[in-house]
Amino acid sequence: MKRTGSVILAAGDGKRMGSAKPKVLCEVLFRPMIGWVADCCNAAGIEQNCVVLGNGADFVRPFLPFNFEAVLQQERLGTGHAASMARDFIREGDFDHVAVLCGDAPFITPDLLQEALTLHREQGNGVTVITARVADPTGYGRIRREGNRLAAIVEQADADEETLRIDEINAGAYWFRKDFLLRFFDAMGNDNAQGEYYLTDCVQAAARLGETAGAWLSPTADVALGANTRKGLALLNSIARERVLDKLMDAGVSIPFPDGIVVGDQVEIGPDTVLLPGTIILGKVTIGSGCEIGPNSHITDSVIGDGCRVISSYIDQSTIEENVKIGPMSNVRPNCHIKSGAKIGDFVEIKNSVIGSKTAVAHLTYVGDSDVGDRCNFGCGTVTVNYDGAKKYRTTIGNNVFVGCNTNLIAPVTMGDRSYSAAGTTVTQDVPPGALVIGRSRQKVIEGWTETSGKTK
Ligand code: UD1
Ligand code: CA
Repeated sequence: MKRTGSVILAAGDGKRMGSAKPKVLCEVLFRPMIGWVADCCNAAGIEQNCVVLGNGADFVRPFLPFNFEAVLQQERLGTGHAASMARDFIREGDFDHVAVLCGDAPFITPDLLQEALTLHREQGNGVTVITARVADPTGYGRIRREGNRLAAIVEQADADEETLRIDEINAGAYWFRKDFLLRFFDAMGNDNAQGEYYLTDCVQAAARLGETAGAWLSPTADVALGANTRKGLALLNSIARERVLDKLMDAGVSIPFPDGIVVGDQVEIGPDTVLLPGTIILGKVTIGSGCEIGPNSHITDSVIGDGCRVISSYIDQSTIEENVKIGPMSNVRPNCHIKSGAKIGDFVEIKNSVIGSKTAVAHLTYVGDSDVGDRCNFGCGTVTVNYDGAKKYRTTIGNNVFVGCNTNLIAPVTMGDRSYSAAGTTVTQDVPPGALVIGRSRQKVIEGWTETSGKTK
């Protein structure tokens, strides 16, 4: 979308949400609503963007994309007033048309914006309003058309009986030609039931200023949905959740029991992968095809290859190659790279480590800050001792290494290719390739001890 800008209204507080934070930080699919709207603007290719913030602006700023500007609205005097806080941004911006959007209506999409802009340009309008038909229009501004022209947007508080029956409503998203919006700011007033500066007055102002106002009816009604209460937010969450699962199923992902499965809207999953109940996948995640994920698995910001199984386990900020099996009950913490065919079994924690191809870490083991080669086997209960209370150190393990049960590897330490450690060994010095290391006290057997010590019952 060349030469376009956006202004996102986001000065609302979280009072009705019962939140100390601004409302736009309330989350849909575990992502703040403002993030949905901002990402939509970026994905639509809108080049310059500005967010209008109110109380608690400092909470919101970290969630804005780096290329977004922010302005403050000190007093909440209405949507028209809020948009006018971005007056300088609009005047100085290198664009012809500007979208004004609500930061608390997360279901706007690049396609909807594009189609509305096309109509806006074709009709040469000063403003084009995105509208929707809804089952219950209560609380929304009603769209009054005269013929195929947009005559007015009438707010609930200002509407008569007949207007209240109109079910086409203002979604709260608009395209303005820049110069008309700037002229409207100079002309707007607050003579209405709520004593606010309404952005919606732009429609009648257009007629007065010799401009045309248009309406573009969205094919989906949820474009208008925002949240005012926690219950409203739960509704947005369930709509968003179902939408994501539907899209995945259409793309060949198998979700035989969708209840209790939550997948974020930035997750990509290949065909024939099965998601089982209790599974939550969030953030930027890519999962290959033919995997089985779940039950009860939690994956965030990771890449998982084809043919993997993740059973009742956590994976965060890591890369898992193809045909890896993880779980049950394992925890793959940030910055791990687990190579193809590796097996991470039950009650295993891996952190900031590389695990080589076909290596097995099957039971009750901690591997942290380690580089492990291919085809190694870790016995049960192995610990890489990476922390001395002050600093962390790395463990290096070559290819084809056999780590015996209950080995402690006191880092920094290296086990060379094909080396072995005996069960119960505490390795404190590097082990050369092909060597066996035993570091434990020799077993002593005291014959007849039970009788002579008087322990006999
Ligand atoms: C507004 C529209 C209504 C539309 C509805 C869609 C007006 C007058 N009415 O009503 O026609 O159907 O949205 O949801 O515009 N905001 C500020 N500063 C303010 C006031 C609002 O930043 O002073 C922000 C809010 O944080 C919110 C957005 O603007 O993100 C919309 O404001 P809200 O008060 O929710 O408007 P509605 O009364 O719902
Ligand atoms: Ca609203």
